[in-house]
Amino acid sequence: MTSSRSASLNPSGRAAANSASIPRRRLGRPTRSPDCTCCVCPLIAPPLAHPVSNTCSNAVKRGWGQLLDDIPTTSPDTTAPATTHRRPASPRSCPVTPRVIPVTEHYFTDSPAATDAERRPRQLTLAGREVTVETAGGIFSPGGVDKATAILLDEVPAPPAAGDLLDIGCGWGPIALSLALLSPEATVWAVDVTERALDLTRRNAATLGLTNVRTARPDEVPADLAFAAIWSNPPIRIGKPAVQELLGTWLPRLTQGADAHLVIGKNLGADGYARWITDELGLPTERAATSKSFRVLRTSRPAGG
Ligand SMILES: C[S@@+](CC[C@H](N)C(=O)[O-])C[C@H]1O[C@@H](n2cnc3c(N)ncnc32)[C@H](O)[C@@H]1O
Repeated sequence: MTSSRSASLNPSGRAAANSASIPRRRLGRPTRSPDCTCCVCPLIAPPLAHPVSNTCSNAVKRGWGQLLDDIPTTSPDTTAPATTHRRPASPRSCPVTPRVIPVTEHYFTDSPAATDAERRPRQLTLAGREVTVETAGGIFSPGGVDKATAILLDEVPAPPAAGDLLDIGCGWGPIALSLALLSPEATVWAVDVTERALDLTRRNAATLGLTNVRTARPDEVPADLAFAAIWSNPPIRIGKPAVQELLGTWLPRLTQGADAHLVIGKNLGADGYARWITDELGLPTERAATSKSFRVLRTSRPAGG
């Protein structure tokens, strides 16, 4: 789940290759352009086997954005079934040398707020309302609502009307904005580690007239706050230990009787995370829904627990 992949320049700063020089490939899948830094291996059917850079304009142009969201990260996820992703049978079956992408390239790297020229309007539906928001390259799912996020938003029950609500990893804000639209009396904490994401969420909240959204880096959230609901499409690509640390930081801060809803790809370890949250955090977690290749997990803090 996942994608911050809008760059039109490769890391060397050169423009992406002239697409006219790119040979067409069977099955209509994109061919790796000569200076593309990602590994879109023409011999491997998706889901892709290798780490993918967020800088492949070739893949983006060809509508592979969602596919890039679905692939596993460089960080091993031992909870994912080993057979889920096809891998080259031998190095010779893949002509492209896998480039190991540091996980920081996916979402960890802080980046400044998008400039006026970088922001793009997007018309879409949030909480049943037609809205216009702004997104920008260099953040997760700049093209609109990510498909895993859409599944979460479709499947969750209505949030509490009041209290503090949390979106872990807000990106440009689809989840936090939905919470704020649905529960105007609540305070919605939109947390992210990049200024670019926080700025977009802040702007989008202002555009929609939502005065109940607070954007914050994780350490800016008051330590004594507890949450009446948590909704998140968490940054699974930061790797299992970091995801566990993230979940261990926020999920225990549910108020008694409150629920968290998380959307996680089945092949990115959703069931393993559900077991881990239940066993290690002591918070009962179950599958609330399954749609396409995603699970929506519900974590509950029992009343009196
Ligand atoms: C899968 S994206 C979801 C973004 C947005 N909620 C959406 O649904 O489009 C995960 C987000 O988590 C953010 N993130 C990464 N590490 C984080 C951390 N340690 N704490 C909070 N957010 C983090 C990323 O910057 C990214 O915006």
